Amino acid sequence: MKLQEVYSLFNVEPIKAKGCKVYTADGTEYLDFYGGHAVISIGHSHPYFVSQMKQQIDKMIFYSNSIKNQLQVQLADHLGKLSGCVDYELFLCNSGAEAVENALKMASFKTKRHKILSIKNCFHGRTSAAVNATDNQKIKAPINTRFETTFIEMNDIEALKKSLSTHTYAAVIIECIQGVGGLDEANDDFLKEIESICIQTNTAFIVDEIQSGFCRSGDFFAFQKSGAQPDIITIAKGMGNGFPIAGVMTRSGFIDSWTGMLGTTFGGNHLACTACNAVLEVIESEDILANVNTIGQYLTDAILSIDGVVEVKGRGLMLGAKFDYPVAVLRASLVYENKLFTGSAKDPNLLRILPPLNISKDDVDCFIDKLRTGVTKHNQALVTS
Ligand SMILES: Cc1ncc(COP(=O)(O)O)c(C=O)c1O
Repeated sequence: MKLQEVYSLFNVEPIKAKGCKVYTADGTEYLDFYGGHAVISIGHSHPYFVSQMKQQIDKMIFYSNSIKNQLQVQLADHLGKLSGCVDYELFLCNSGAEAVENALKMASFKTKRHKILSIKNCFHGRTSAAVNATDNQKIKAPINTRFETTFIEMNDIEALKKSLSTHTYAAVIIECIQGVGGLDEANDDFLKEIESICIQTNTAFIVDEIQSGFCRSGDFFAFQKSGAQPDIITIAKGMGNGFPIAGVMTRSGFIDSWTGMLGTTFGGNHLACTACNAVLEVIESEDILANVNTIGQYLTDAILSIDGVVEVKGRGLMLGAKFDYPVAVLRASLVYENKLFTGSAKDPNLLRILPPLNISKDDVDCFIDKLRTGVTKHNQALVTS
């Protein structure tokens, strides 16, 4: 059987990884400043993470959600304390789209409504409700478009008020820093307005922290810079440092009881919880948040020194280098010639930069060296062509 040709693949096959480096079978080293779309949070094969996972594999990998699981309790407790969100409850699942799907469902259960207000250029996943709330017609099948979604511009308070004043929306969903879309940010006033109008109109306020959460933005969650308080927070990617795990956090009292309304076979299994528990312990013991802020600033300043970069978008280690030309050719040559992984965005001029959160200054210097070499060669080729 052949694999479906879903992705256009780079002709590189890493078989080993450590920190922010990955290696092919012939020993070629690549610098990974992308982490497979912001998934690698504490670095590839972090020794503590690996030892915890190995120990758990020896004990037990999975049992169903019909038994008690202390690892889930530990996860919820530690996540609540580290993120400052002690007043939330956690539902565990397996992927970002599944988290968004459940978040939208929870909002609809609570409000008994089915319309969603979303933001232009957003990405929330590929399952049915999540993809319907995503601003990309190309990835929606007819079956995905069964409820009405309105897309407004980021930070357009008037459009927000106009839509929600109809009292017909189940939820507003927003990435406080857009990932796939290209690092556009919600300003603090907009997020606070969403909170207040959602309260007035009995609409659920969902923040999608699947990419920006777990310290990537320089706060544990990106919404926290604004002081706004969402009803629902979706989480995934950096949570498991590469092991699939996701979740939905709901404000305590959001609904009286969830019993019988939600469920999953694999969500919150023993190995997945061990992965997230290890990530949380490393975030705390290595003071990852402080590193994200210091190194994020150092990285931002260094990127701005590169010829052709007109702006650095984003915060912390969720960054986008905006060039004054489309970067697809540059990005491919960074992989093949400079042995450097970066990411693309919907904005063709944007190179996404999402390294592990515990990178050092030396790692940044190495990145900048590779990027500068690649960009210089690319710029020369542009001049002579
Ligand atoms: C903000 C955001 N939400 C949801 C998703 C969907 O996550 P998954 O690919 O795990 O389904 C993504 C994935 O890129 C994302 O960036």
